[in-house]
Amino acid sequence: MPDLDGKVALVTGGTRGIGLATARALAEAGATVVLTGRDEAKAKEAAQAAGAAGGLALDVTDAKAVAALVRGVAKEHGKLDIVVANAGIMEDALLGMIREELVDTTLSTNVAGTIHTVQAAARAMMRKKTGAIVVLASIVGEYGSAGQTVYAASKAAVANIARSAAKELGRSGIRVNAVAPGVIETELTAGLSEDARASNIGSTPLGRLGTPEDVANAIKFLVSDDAAFITGQVLGIDGGLVL
Ligand code: NAI
Repeated sequence: MPDLDGKVALVTGGTRGIGLATARALAEAGATVVLTGRDEAKAKEAAQAAGAAGGLALDVTDAKAVAALVRGVAKEHGKLDIVVANAGIMEDALLGMIREELVDTTLSTNVAGTIHTVQAAARAMMRKKTGAIVVLASIVGEYGSAGQTVYAASKAAVANIARSAAKELGRSGIRVNAVAPGVIETELTAGLSEDARASNIGSTPLGRLGTPEDVANAIKFLVSDDAAFITGQVLGIDGGLVL
């Protein structure tokens, strides 16, 4: 089992779903975890539920706020070893229905938000020349999906944030990886029709949808010292859906 004793971790978008499961998994492995949510009260409540040390309000589209929060966490806990840039949104739209506002909000949350988080994490980790960052890509970003052009574009960008940052930060002892989940049962995918669920399960060799814990456990491995020679990877967590 990856042992995260003594590590300090930050998880963005940790109030529910994959972020909450990840915060809980890292805390259970011994890390001191701070999670963020857009709403402070929800973040504090989630932190308590996850056994995290703190819950703070953060909108990842606000670069200055991200920088200040990451600096603050590193200062309060003396260092920052692990950052999981999990916050993200998904809204489907067929090509003809894509509104400019959807493009703006999706790219500013999923792409710019991830860049702000990785940049702030790198700054905080650089002093100690060690750290592990994980960003949330998606199988949709790797393979595309009808009705998800905007989301797919954003998640393809996220995968390449991981690859580029890994190349840039490797010499500073900082590893950056992405996970690319398939269909995971969270509020993000709660709107899937019964037909779409059945069809996804039917196309998945492991015969089920994923759970937030499936993703959290993979992230827990990637941020641990067991993954010390792994960087710049995009790890599929999809039950074989893409095969
Ligand atoms: P969710 O909708 O349950 O949780 C998303 C979290 O991000 C929430 O805590 C939300 O408050 C937060 N968030 C959204 N916009 C934010 C902003 N501007 N600033 C700060 N926080 C913000 O989603 P879920 O399913 O847990 O997804 C987590 C990540 O995994 C997302 O990046 C998503 O795109 C990705 N993902 C999810 C998949 C799934 O099937 N559920 C599949 C592939 C990727």
